Formats: sequence, C-alpha cells, structure tokens
Amino acid sequence: MAQKMKKEARVISQKMLSEGIYDMWLETPIAKDVKAGQFVGVYPVNKATLLPRPISICEDDCERSAIRLVYRVVGSGTAEFALYQPDDYIMILGPLGNGFPLEKAAGKKAVVIGGGIGVPPLLETTKRLSQKKEGDKPEIVSAVMGYRNSDTFLADEFSKYSTLYIASEDGSIGTKGNVIDALKAQNVPCDVIFACGPMPMLRGIKKYAEETGVKAYLSLEERMACGVGACLGCVCKTKNVDEHSHVNNARICTDGPVFDADDLDMTV
Ligand SMILES: Cc1cc2nc3c(=O)[nH]c(=O)nc-3n(C[C@H](O)[C@H](O)[C@H](O)COP(=O)(O)OP(=O)(O)OC[C@H]3O[C@@H](n4cnc5c(N)ncnc54)[C@H](O)[C@@H]3O)c2cc1C
Ligand code: FES
Repeated sequence: MAQKMKKEARVISQKMLSEGIYDMWLETPIAKDVKAGQFVGVYPVNKATLLPRPISICEDDCERSAIRLVYRVVGSGTAEFALYQPDDYIMILGPLGNGFPLEKAAGKKAVVIGGGIGVPPLLETTKRLSQKKEGDKPEIVSAVMGYRNSDTFLADEFSKYSTLYIASEDGSIGTKGNVIDALKAQNVPCDVIFACGPMPMLRGIKKYAEETGVKAYLSLEERMACGVGACLGCVCKTKNVDEHSHVNNARICTDGPVFDADDLDMTV
C-alpha cells in the first residue's frame, strides 16, 4: 500500500455550528479519493501539540476538491483548529482508515446511527447510500441520531437524504433516551446498521444487532497517536489474531476505524 504523505490544505470556510462545535471546509486534492467513514489526521501548527488529531470526513465535494470536517473543541489541538480563518494553510494526512462497506446495504433496509461527535462521518455515509444507483440501492435509508438535548447539529442535513429519527437524553426532542430506545420505540425498519459514536453506544448496538439478527458495521473513534499503524496506540480487541502483533488485536487507525461488529470483542 502506498505510504500516505502529509499534504497542505487551504481553509475555505469555518463557522460555529452549535455551542463548541465547528464546521470547516478545506480545499485538498484528497477529496477525490475519499470513502464514506474515512478520516484525516490534522496537524496542529503549535509544535507543542505533536501528534495529528484524527477527524472524520463529514462530507466531500469532488467538484470543488473540498472536504468538510465537523468537530467539537475538547483540548489544545481542536481549540487551535477553531481559530483557523479562510485562506489559512494547514497540513493534513489522509484519507485514512477503511470506511463503511456501503455495498452491504444493496436491497436492504439500511440504518445509519450516530451519537455525539460520532454524528459527522455519517452524513457522507447517508448521502452516498441515498444516491446509489438501481441494483446497488438500499430499499430504505433511515438515520437515527442521538443528542444530549435539542441542539441537533446536522439533523436538517440528514433529513435531506433519509427518514430521520432523533433521540435526546433530556427528552426535549424525539424519543427520550438513547439511539437504541429510538430504534425500538419508532420501529425503525432495519436489516443492516452503519454506526459511529461513543463506546457504550456501540456496545449497545452490537448487542441489539445480535439479538435481532441484523448486521452491524461500527466505527470506533478511540484515542490515536501516529494514525498510520506504527505505534499500536489505538488497538481494540478482536476475535481474530492480528498479523502484525500476533494477538487478538486490531489497529483502529489502519484496520478500522470501521469493523464488522461480529469481529469485535467488546466485553472490556
Ligand atoms: C477515527 C477518529 C475520528 C474522529 N472524528 C472526529 C470528528 O469527526 N469530530 C470530532 O470532534 N472528533 C473526532 N474524533 C475525536 C478527536 O480526534 C479528538 O477529540 C481530538 O483528537 C482531541 O484533540 P485535542 O488536542 O483537542 O484534545 P486533547 O488535549 O488531546 O484531549 C482533550 C480531551 O479529549 C479527550 N479525547 C481525546 N481524543 C479523544 C477521542 N478520540 N475520543 C474520546 N475522547 C477523546 C481526552 O481524553 C481529553 O479528556 C475522532 C477520533 C478518531 C479516532
Ligand atoms: S495510532 Fe499508531 S498504530 Fe494506530
């Protein structure tokens, strides 16, 4: 596999989408190579922040050679990103990771499920599922998005490409509870799931998929270091033995971030 090189990207635009959540478009030639569910490593300019920060590709636009990143400010790296202005140049590495196997949705009732900051990569996923041609098309595309409250960032965009169901922790919008509560309460038609979000949510989805006999593909957004498979800083437990480390591990950055739920050991 060709080694990925750091590339310069130009900031096209940046705005605050909701409290602490930013929406940035970058001009970059990698836009033409992106699969839904992949991510980029974004290098902070501040050299005290050594490692690239993994951020999912929320949308890509080949015509404009542009990718969209939607991120929450949680620490020094993302705080720096929020300061970028149009025409600033930054360094990115990517596209990284494997992406979602969208072909598994052909003819099926596909459900895209996101929670918290796992919501952004699912926008491109939902868009591509809805634009599949006859023969590769899912029978139905539904999206179930989980939020803390009525601050439902990106929800209006999901409703353009899917039938949208919302869960909120405080019950202020949609089903009160989590995404599984919404799936059950709203009887969402489901044969195959594509999901991204916090680990407890993904564990719940794996259990739901096992109980109901549906396939699930889960994107794990755990902490990372090098982002290119070299440091083993991002391993997760799997049922199969990894060729690189010879134990029941996989590297989320290169083997994932998307895994078949059946291959993951999520008991720890
Ligand atoms: C494949 C992948 C895709 C991602 N996509 C997105 C995205 O689209 N949008 C987005 O907002 N974030 C995303 N993240 C998380 C993002 O990478 C981290 O929030 C970011 O690296 C934090 O950098 P920082 O320097 O601001 O914070 P740091 O100073 O490094 O950390 C600040 C706090 O955030 C916590 N933290 C850091 N990384 C993570 C993580 N991966 N998961 C949970 N908590 C973390 C730390 O434990 C600490 O408490 C993704 C992560 C991965 C692995
Ligand atoms: S982050 Fe280094 S191996 Fe995945």
